[in-house]
Amino acid sequence: MIHEKLPPFPADFLWGSASAAYQIEGAWNEDGKGPSVWDLYTKIPGTTFKETSGDIAVDHYHRYKEDVQLMAEMGLKSYRFSVSWPRIYPHGTGEVNEAGLAFYDSLIDELVAHSIEPVLTLYHWDVPQALQDRYGGWESREIIEDFNQYCITLYKRFGDRVKYWVSLNEQNHNTNHAYMLGMHPPAVKDRKRFYEANHIMFLANAQAIASFRKHVPDGKIGPSFAYTPSYPASSSPEDMLAYENAEEFTSYWWLDVYCRGEYPSIPYRHLKQQGLAPVFEEGDQELLKQGMPDFVGVNYYQTITYEHNPLHGGVSSGKMNNTGQKGSNESTGIPGLYKTANNPHVEKSNWDWNIDPIGLRIGMRRITSRYDLPIFITENGLGEFDKLESEDQVHDEYRIAYLKSHLHQCKQAIADGVELIGYCSWSFTDLLSWLNGYQKRYGFVYVNQDEEGGKDLRRIKKDSYFWYQDVIKTNGENI
Ligand code: NOJ
Repeated sequence: MIHEKLPPFPADFLWGSASAAYQIEGAWNEDGKGPSVWDLYTKIPGTTFKETSGDIAVDHYHRYKEDVQLMAEMGLKSYRFSVSWPRIYPHGTGEVNEAGLAFYDSLIDELVAHSIEPVLTLYHWDVPQALQDRYGGWESREIIEDFNQYCITLYKRFGDRVKYWVSLNEQNHNTNHAYMLGMHPPAVKDRKRFYEANHIMFLANAQAIASFRKHVPDGKIGPSFAYTPSYPASSSPEDMLAYENAEEFTSYWWLDVYCRGEYPSIPYRHLKQQGLAPVFEEGDQELLKQGMPDFVGVNYYQTITYEHNPLHGGVSSGKMNNTGQKGSNESTGIPGLYKTANNPHVEKSNWDWNIDPIGLRIGMRRITSRYDLPIFITENGLGEFDKLESEDQVHDEYRIAYLKSHLHQCKQAIADGVELIGYCSWSFTDLLSWLNGYQKRYGFVYVNQDEEGGKDLRRIKKDSYFWYQDVIKTNGENI
């Protein structure tokens, strides 16, 4: 579709930015917080870049007022953050940690006081270690009720001020790393466990949404999916089949369950033949159907191209980084189904990620056609090695170019017919990259982690901060 004139962004468009508790808060063992799986995992030598962890992160726990002040000055309309589950339930279940609730109470009040719409993520990967030890975290059905209780606690406490909620953040990316690539806790490589843990997460997601309807009847909730739309490497029928397989196994496997309450038929039947399909227990089907979302949260960074992967063609070796982390270019395909291929038509970032703004539009259109639901872009951004110049300046024109081109495709997508309710860039301040430490930066606000600069964590507005400020002020008029 080519549009002669683009419509403006909706008047109530949620211009925002996002973060996650473990990546910004620090204070990992303060005020009664229990350890999460990440608190322990990052302390195992060799798991992260230079042994970095979120022990201190960017110290948002102590500096949140200053951070919200920066958001207010920028004119942000919404701010997406996650609640640390073990800050609320240090032992996973049982006693609630009032100090943890009080922290988020005060963060939310601060946001509301500055007319910034809070968007609360319930799960951004930090399972309480106590639940991992007790029954293996997401691998036991016991977690469904424990997660539900935690969610209900938050609904009751914050439901009066928080309208927008994200249930699970990037279940697909998280489980892929945790159970297939061995790079997120519990760091195993086991396809059967991968599908089983995912099934339990789907049930937990549905249960949390069912409870949400009772406790926050006027609120809006949806999962955030790490959507990496697939392309075929060529128009050869083999590559087309590979691409279709990939889209079914790596996208619709999650999106169909979230939005239709059922697995897509081809992958489910195929996995069943292999003894890998998750087993349904009584009540599962009904529960999944109760988990229908109000919107689909989309975390978009890039597209991925697939080609035919012969059954006996040796180990696949696609170059594209499918995992979101530098240095993890493995597991790029399933023999007989697909393997990743290079896409010569798109540029790459310094982290080897494809830069493909039109891919975002394509992804949103696919979701709209298939599920007919509103979309909330809950993450989109560019990770780079920013440089702090003299007089505290950061000239990140590459980030401005990246965000601008993606926002332009959002505008195009709206003209195509997509109902887009908001856009949260990733991220507001620089923050911890799970495996890559602090070298990879995404924020509008630079956080000083430099040894020679005294590592004082001071906040510095980048050029992109002022650019986004203007975008919000003009409601994206010049995009
Ligand atoms: C996805 C995740 O939700 C976020 O935590 C992560 O830092 C970014 N993408 C960048 O990789």
